[in-house]
Amino acid sequence: MKKDLPTVLVTGGAGFIGSAVCRHLVSTGAYRVVNLDKLTYAGNLSSLRDLDGHPNYAFYKADICDTDKVSEILAAEKVGRIMHLAAESHVDRSIDGPMAFVTTNVVGTASLLSAALAHWRSLGFAEQESFRFHHVSTDEVFGDLPFDSGVFTEESPYKPSSPYSASKAASDHFVRAWHETYGMPVVLSNCSNNYGPYHFPEKLIPLVIANALDERQLPVYGKGANVRDWLFVEDHARALEAVMTRGQVGESYNIGGRAERTNLEVVETICALLDARRPRSNGKSHLDLIAYVTDRPGHDRRYAIDPTKSERELGWRPQETFETGLGRTVDWYLENGWWWRPIREQRFDGTRQGLVGAR
Ligand code: NAD
Ligand code: TYD
Repeated sequence: MKKDLPTVLVTGGAGFIGSAVCRHLVSTGAYRVVNLDKLTYAGNLSSLRDLDGHPNYAFYKADICDTDKVSEILAAEKVGRIMHLAAESHVDRSIDGPMAFVTTNVVGTASLLSAALAHWRSLGFAEQESFRFHHVSTDEVFGDLPFDSGVFTEESPYKPSSPYSASKAASDHFVRAWHETYGMPVVLSNCSNNYGPYHFPEKLIPLVIANALDERQLPVYGKGANVRDWLFVEDHARALEAVMTRGQVGESYNIGGRAERTNLEVVETICALLDARRPRSNGKSHLDLIAYVTDRPGHDRRYAIDPTKSERELGWRPQETFETGLGRTVDWYLENGWWWRPIREQRFDGTRQGLVGAR
């Protein structure tokens, strides 16, 4: 690994967004990237095979709750910035088993903050000035919007609904507390739903693509009327670099693609893309596989991000529309069964999603 570039520690870099961030940061040639990941069920080093052996990339298998190990890595790698993505991230799993979310997202974030603070204090003046702790969070902390009005701004009150979003809200508060109390230079970002390559096939978009290709039912919760605001993962990775490098210390930035869709619209669009690219052998549309299933408890109706601040202050804009990004995503799943088929072949672990997805 080259020693003359600023070193960014990415936590959760073997996950969906984290792996896109690692690939993006290394591709710029402007950073050394150190990926720290526990490799839970959601972590997958095959998402990073493009970076194998790259001189500006290193991987450590570690738990963010293990403060001693994290402290060692921060010192040994002379980390100059932290981008914190490690988390339990699936709402349905949080409903079945909330404590893992408290442990990783709340206790883990506070443990990481403690190690980061000691490291930051050990740095020289110039390094302290350039250091950032960038916490990667979600729009779900703002809770439920009505179908017909409202958007989330950086000033929206926190009103989380699920154990997942409550744990992310708590972690956001801890990050702000480390800034207000100890002066550590933090930035936060709250992003809408991501989609794209290397997305674990328990989340809506990859689940529907994989189920459709396997001639399984496409489970739509309730009537499919819930609205999410979608962003292509590589656009999020570029936004995160902008927040880390150009964001004001102590500030948060909402990131989103201005692409609200009902879940049913999302599923129908995937079906249309697959009908065109991989027609079924029985000549019917993939739409026939749609199955309306029992709704998620506490299911937020709508999320919608106002990204004006990020656009204005960071000069960031998404490069993909929902249609172009979804087309690229479907193509990726068609071409990369080597990545997602082995995940599907492992048995689901009895979570609500697992039961629905396995049908
Ligand atoms: P993911 O579940 O795909 O990946 C999470 C990664 O964190 C995995 O590689 C996992 O092994 C690792 N991890 C989990 N617990 C750990 C621990 N204790 N120590 C070290 N590593 C651990 O998640 P994702 O979808 O890539 O989301 C990444 C971050 O972005 C999360 O913080 C999430 O809240 C946030 N976010 C996600 C979305 C989205 O749509 N997916 C949207 C906005 C924000
Ligand atoms: P998901 O991908 O789990 O993301 P999040 O809950 O963080 O928004 O779900 C996206 C939307 O799709 C959400 O409204 C729940 C819905 N959904 C289904 O209708 N069927 C499914 O099988 C899944 C996993 C989600």
